[in-house]
Amino acid sequence: MERKTFLKYSALGSAFAISTLAIPGIFRNTIPKSKIDPKFKPDIEIEMKAGEDKVQIFSGLPTKVWRYKAKLLKGPSNSVVNIKNSYLGPILKVKYGNKIRIIFQNDIPEKTIVHWHGLHVPSQFDGHPIYAVNRGEKYVYEFEIKNRAGTYWFHPHPNKRTGPQVYYGLAGLFIIEDDDEKKLNLPSGKNDIPIIIQDRNFDSNNQLVYVTHRMQKITGFVGDTILVNGKPGYELSLGTSSYRLRILNGSNSRIYKLAWSDGTPLTVIGTDGGLLEQAVVKNYVMLGPAERIDVWLDLSNKNIGDELILKSLKFEGGGMIMGMGRRGGMMRGGMMRGGMMRGGMMGGGMMGELSGESELNILKIKITRKEKNKYALPSRLSKIVRFNKNEIINLNNPRTFVFSMMHMTPTINGRTFKMTETAKDEIVRLNTTEMWKFVNSTMGMQMPHPVHVHDVQFQIVERTPSSVGWNSIKDGFIDNGWKDTVLLMPGMEIKVVMRFEDYSGLYLYHCHNLEHEDLGMMRNFLIKG
Ligand code: C2O
Ligand code: CU
Ligand code: CU
Repeated sequence: MERKTFLKYSALGSAFAISTLAIPGIFRNTIPKSKIDPKFKPDIEIEMKAGEDKVQIFSGLPTKVWRYKAKLLKGPSNSVVNIKNSYLGPILKVKYGNKIRIIFQNDIPEKTIVHWHGLHVPSQFDGHPIYAVNRGEKYVYEFEIKNRAGTYWFHPHPNKRTGPQVYYGLAGLFIIEDDDEKKLNLPSGKNDIPIIIQDRNFDSNNQLVYVTHRMQKITGFVGDTILVNGKPGYELSLGTSSYRLRILNGSNSRIYKLAWSDGTPLTVIGTDGGLLEQAVVKNYVMLGPAERIDVWLDLSNKNIGDELILKSLKFEGGGMIMGMGRRGGMMRGGMMRGGMMRGGMMGGGMMGELSGESELNILKIKITRKEKNKYALPSRLSKIVRFNKNEIINLNNPRTFVFSMMHMTPTINGRTFKMTETAKDEIVRLNTTEMWKFVNSTMGMQMPHPVHVHDVQFQIVERTPSSVGWNSIKDGFIDNGWKDTVLLMPGMEIKVVMRFEDYSGLYLYHCHNLEHEDLGMMRNFLIKG
């Protein structure tokens, strides 16, 4: 990054530090309008709009959606890959070190802003709800790609409306490549396949139906129709070769327990923040909202006509649990359950199905052609430098965040989101490495919380068993890669370590159950330069 630009960002960082103490109304007016910086020389320039659209998801009536559409103004032609007949946004593909400018325009009838999930970018380009723009307005993003190769994504982040905006279609994949990864000759081109898993409810006119009751938002919204890359009943016809599947759980709240139908273990090569050091073999993988895994799939021993299904298996602890204290008498809160019908209405009750309650088919693979396999799984994928104990400034006193559903209100340390508010225990120092502890409170109602921290990739150093259904999930976690989201199951405690560098300013941490986020299970943290 040029020195001038850097100075500008630092100045902005300190402006935040002071302004958070001021009255929010005044603060609002001090936000610099984002505009093109003529000194920023982008390698890739993209014009992206969020707008209303109609797509053919089923036969019959098209479905009204909101959709990101992008146009490449400058850069390699494969920087923007559109997914055909889908409500999903384009796949943006960039390289480490690229400077990228995205001129975003909001054409949906409410405020929105784009967040680049997992990316390390200056605070003003992180998609904080404070920057949300009205219909017809633009927001210009200019940043350098500082993340390693991996599967990231983007989605809206307006105050209280992230859930519905993602639900109606606003989301896309953001793939970063780098030289280290290139050297590995991993499956590329047609052998590098995005798998964005989402669940939705449709009414009899093929229209999306979102939740209405607060209770449904609390217990976790799940849809009865599984979509992959925006399509139901997803099928892939593949050859007898090896493939890289980039799997994103893009669902609002549903958790998946992924496994192959033939009992072959999943070979995982990457997590949220890129490649693992070595492939990890798992009978199943737990994937919470916003989490990603890259999976190696070797089909070279298959025959033409063979079929393989990616399933989500049953597990316990995916929904609401009533509990009093750790390992106390648990009871699944099923008293209000009603059957979910394809008509989109909840059958009388206020709750739908819970995550993990039934086995689901995610997608079907058909082997349709013989192919020479030109790919071999490298024994060593990358180098992950572990944080050193000595550099962690609070090793014996981790910053603790308690995620609670007491009194039917999702809170973090008893607080909910306030636009510019940071508490004393939410201020960190630039250029420090900290340990954070996430606790899923066992008081009152319990839910899984996929905990996400903006700006950083972290390392998981400790995970305690969940207080319910542990045996049904315990082998499904991959805790030795870079992560930006971690699935905090009921009664669980997780310790992570992360470093704050390059940028100061206001960032978010929150539950990535988007309904919980919208209800306020989100807070700012301030990086002080
Ligand atoms: Cu995926 Cu705060 O977001
Ligand atoms: Cu994020
Ligand atoms: Cu949550």
